[in-house]
Amino acid sequence: MTKISYIQPDGTRVTVDAGPGDSVMSAALAGDVDGIVGECGGNMMCATCHVYVGESVAGRFPAMTDDEDQMLSCAEAPRTSASRLSCQLPADGTADDIVVTVPGSPV
Ligand code: FES
Repeated sequence: MTKISYIQPDGTRVTVDAGPGDSVMSAALAGDVDGIVGECGGNMMCATCHVYVGESVAGRFPAMTDDEDQMLSCAEAPRTSASRLSCQLPADGTADDIVVTVPGSPV
């Protein structure tokens, strides 16, 4: 089982277990993680699952598709080079633990 840690904008960390078939988004919803809404259910139509992925784990995820790239431009919080849609990040339950940062509200 993979553990996913979500760093909140205030620095607190929430860690949940992810099983086979989970994404970083679905594990967050199951664990009631603040700041990840997943409004469209993982269909790349909302960007409410935006997270920042650190370089140390970025390479374990599939490359960003054009559709994800386009949808990220609709994210409420600022987009950075670390931005991903967490619904597109599989948490396959077999690899190392994952740490992502939940964006704060735009200022
Ligand atoms: Fe809607 Fe990820 S849940 S784009």
